[in-house]
Amino acid sequence: MNRTYGRRWALVSALLALTVLVATTATAGTARTTAATGTLEVFSWWTGGGEAAGLNKVIAIWKAENPESKFENAAVAGGAGTNAKAVLAQRLAAKDPPDSFQGHAGAELQDYIKAGQLEPIDALYRQFGLAKVLPKQLLSQITYKGHLYSVPVNIHRANVLWYSPVVLKNAGVTKVPATWPQFMSALQKVKAKGLIPLAVGEQWTQKHLFETVLLATVGPARYTALWKKGANWKNPGVTLAINRFKTVLTYTNSDAASLTWQDASKLVVNHQAAFNIMGDWANGYFTELKKKPKIDYGWGTVPGTGKTYQWLSDSFTLPKGAHNRPAAIEWLKLLGSKRAQDAFNPVKGSIPARKDADPKLYNEYLQSALQSWKTHTLVGSLTHGVVANNKWNSEIDGALGLFLQDKNVAKFQQKLVSAAGNA
Ligand code: GAL
Repeated sequence: MNRTYGRRWALVSALLALTVLVATTATAGTARTTAATGTLEVFSWWTGGGEAAGLNKVIAIWKAENPESKFENAAVAGGAGTNAKAVLAQRLAAKDPPDSFQGHAGAELQDYIKAGQLEPIDALYRQFGLAKVLPKQLLSQITYKGHLYSVPVNIHRANVLWYSPVVLKNAGVTKVPATWPQFMSALQKVKAKGLIPLAVGEQWTQKHLFETVLLATVGPARYTALWKKGANWKNPGVTLAINRFKTVLTYTNSDAASLTWQDASKLVVNHQAAFNIMGDWANGYFTELKKKPKIDYGWGTVPGTGKTYQWLSDSFTLPKGAHNRPAAIEWLKLLGSKRAQDAFNPVKGSIPARKDADPKLYNEYLQSALQSWKTHTLVGSLTHGVVANNKWNSEIDGALGLFLQDKNVAKFQQKLVSAAGNA
């Protein structure tokens, strides 16, 4: 073979190889053009029941589509990110970020943006066509000074009242409580039967309970106003909410502090407790436990919050100084895709952030949530980072910790007033 012929042959082979590569990518139907290499380290707090299962769905797609890349799951256990956020803060301070980390849309995300820890990802939004498929109200929560900073994978609902149809029947509660007086009457009936009226777990689950009681008491407009500058936390609506919270706590299990959110939710599907107020990740957990909606568990909204959707959203970021930036970008692209969101959310117990989900893939509870998200009044969650940043949340945590000990309403309210003032 002479040299010219050899070069031509090499060129033909290269073109052939390229054609095969393009054809394979096109037939895979994934619209991907590259596959990641190297290690991708992803940080979250999804290690527990229902949560790890959701994450694993996305990891499986990642592994299939990026066989050359090693996925490092850096999840730190602890519901609501109670432990994870502290570990993350240390890593960010040491300039050793994971390649992508979980952050709640809203005030929590802004903490990282303001600290200069995230890259804006507007170019990725353009490239992936994401702005068109995400709801406007969600985009506004991940935009800061005109730039976008994360890819949301889901929307969770915080103000859900989960109940055991079996316990309600035993206790003679014939109607799922929708108002505060109905709720009080149901709790009393269950208590009289010697069962747990309202299951709660470790402190953050009680803060979650408190934010829903606050919403139920002051209503969506005043609740939202409480998180704005100069809000009046001294108002009697807040006093009433704290008093109601104090009363509700008298109907809870005494071992709360040692229970995770899963332990507390499980008391409902095991028919040991009547109610649990928890985000709809509980629906993901119940699905993992193979419990059937409407049979093993029922749901309503927290009494008094009927047409309000108290929401939060898990989103993933591109930290400045990510070790494997190209892989992190591929990860964000995958998270924003319909195929990833429709694989993750039915298992995680959330509705997808994208507007084009396939409702058939979602269980009865989630189908109802998909509807409610479109029609209900939206308010953000406190415990899950939408309305208050990490510092404000920590101050409220401190105040709540004391309140759970001394049950001093006036003192708690005063501390809430100071926390708002400091924020
Ligand atoms: C929330 C998070 C949810 C769920 C929950 C319990 O903060 O947004 O995805 O994980 O904590 O851990």
